[in-house]
Amino acid sequence: MAGDQTRGQLWHGRFAGSPSEALQALSDSFPFDCRMYREDIAGSRAHVRMLTDVGLLHPAERDEVLAALDTVEQELSTGTFVRASSDEDIHTAVERRVTELAPAGAKMHTGRSRNDQVATDVRLWTRGALDDVSDLVARLARTIADRAVEAGDAHLPGYTHMQQAQPVALAHHLLAHGWALLRDLERLADARRRVDVSPLGAGALAGSSLPLDPVITADHLGFAAVFDNSLDAVSDRDFVAEVLFDLALLGVHLSRIGEEMVLWSTQEFGFVELDDAFSTGSSMMPQKKNPDIAELARGKAGRLIGHLTGLLTTLKGLPLTYNKDLQEDKEPLFDAVDTVRFTLVALEGMLSTIGFRTDRMAAAAASPYAAATDLAEWLVARGMPFRDAHSVVGELVRRSLGGEGSLADLVTGDTRLGSEAAALLKPGISVTRRTTRGGGAPAAVVDQLSRFKQRLDHAVGGPDQSEPGHGRTGAR
Ligand code: ARG
Repeated sequence: MAGDQTRGQLWHGRFAGSPSEALQALSDSFPFDCRMYREDIAGSRAHVRMLTDVGLLHPAERDEVLAALDTVEQELSTGTFVRASSDEDIHTAVERRVTELAPAGAKMHTGRSRNDQVATDVRLWTRGALDDVSDLVARLARTIADRAVEAGDAHLPGYTHMQQAQPVALAHHLLAHGWALLRDLERLADARRRVDVSPLGAGALAGSSLPLDPVITADHLGFAAVFDNSLDAVSDRDFVAEVLFDLALLGVHLSRIGEEMVLWSTQEFGFVELDDAFSTGSSMMPQKKNPDIAELARGKAGRLIGHLTGLLTTLKGLPLTYNKDLQEDKEPLFDAVDTVRFTLVALEGMLSTIGFRTDRMAAAAASPYAAATDLAEWLVARGMPFRDAHSVVGELVRRSLGGEGSLADLVTGDTRLGSEAAALLKPGISVTRRTTRGGGAPAAVVDQLSRFKQRLDHAVGGPDQSEPGHGRTGAR
C-alpha cells in the first residue's frame, strides 16, 4: 500500500509498503547514534554551505536550512526533540525535522548519502573523543610523574616472576607505568591523523554528477585531509578499529597498574594505603577496605579487547562498499571511549591520593639476597669473569639458605669477597648502585624524570595538536 504510511521514509518513492516492526527493531540505531547529533548537524552545515558555494543552493535557501539546523540542534540538546517513528537513525531524524521547519530542507541531501554522512559523523566524533581521552591520559601520566618526584629516594623490591629480584627506586617503578601511558598518548595522536580525513562528498559510493567540492566541506569541518577514493571513503572503518586497538592497549596498561595496586594493598604486601574516597568497604566484614577501582581497571580491559575483536570480526570479509554491518561500529566505539574515560578519571583519583608505605617497601627490599647480583658485579669489577662470579655468589647464597650462617657473615669470611663486599648487603645500599641510563637507582631516575616530562610536554602540546584545522568537537 502506497501513501501516508511510507511517506516518512526517505525512500518512500520506491516502496509501496512500509517496513515491518521486526526490521525497525533490528535496524534502529537512533538510540545510540543520536549521540553524534552535533557532528551530524555540523556536517550538514558544511554541506549546505558548500552547495551554495558551488551554485546548487540559493543563499536564501542555505540560510533557511542553517536556521532550521540551529533549531534542531537546540531541540536535541534540550531534550525537546520529538522523534518520529520513521526516524531510523540520527541522519534521517535531523533531515526530517529540518524539512518540516524549512521547505528548502528537501535540498539538504543533494549529492550526499547517509553513507558518506555517517562516515563523516563518526570521524568527527572520534576526533573529539581522541582529544578528550588524550587529555585524561596526559593527566594520569602527570600524576604519576608527580608521585615519582614525591617518592624521592624511597625504594622497594623490583620483581621478576613475582619473585624479589633487585631493589629499585619507587619513582623508577612508577615511571615504568608512565612510559607505557606516554606511548599510548603518542599512539592516539598518530591515529588522530588518520581519523582526520573527510569522507564527505563521496556520496553513496561513487561521487557525484553534480559539481560538489569535497575540499570546501572538509575545510568547513576543519579536517586536515580529504578522501581520494569514494569507495574507500564510505567503507573504511580502519580508523575505528585502530582507535579500538589503542584504547584496548591503554586498557591493558591501566589493568596492569590496577593489578599491582590490588597486590600492593593486600595485608601481605602492605605497600599502599588507599584513600577512603577511592576504596570501598564490605557489607558484612567490618574490617575490609577493598580496591574496587584497581579491580575495575583490571576488569574493564576485557571489555575493551572484546570491542576490538568484535569490530574486526564485523569488518572481515565485508565486500566494498557500504554494508549495513558497518552500523555495528558505533556501540563498541562509544562504549570503549566511555569505559576508558571513567577508568582514567577514577584511577587518577586513586593514584593521586594513595599513600605509599615506604617503610614497608624498604623492609621488603632489605633482604640481603636482593643484593646478590651486586656482589657478583663487585667481583667482575675486580677482574673475575661474570659466569665465575655468579657461581661464587650463588654458592654462598645456597650455603646461607642451608643454615650455614648469614649471607653477610659468609661474604665477610670469603677471601674473594670480604668486608668491603659485605657492606653492599646493608639495606638501602644496592639500590643506589645501578646508575646506568634508565637504571633503578634514585640518581639515574632524576635524569629519566626530566626526559619523561619533556616527552610528555611534546606529546601534549606537539605539532599534532597545534596545527590549524584541528578544532575540538568535544565527544559527548
Ligand atoms: N545508520 C547507518 C549506519 O550507522 C547510516 C547509514 C545508512 N546507510 C544506508 N545506506 N542504509 O551505518
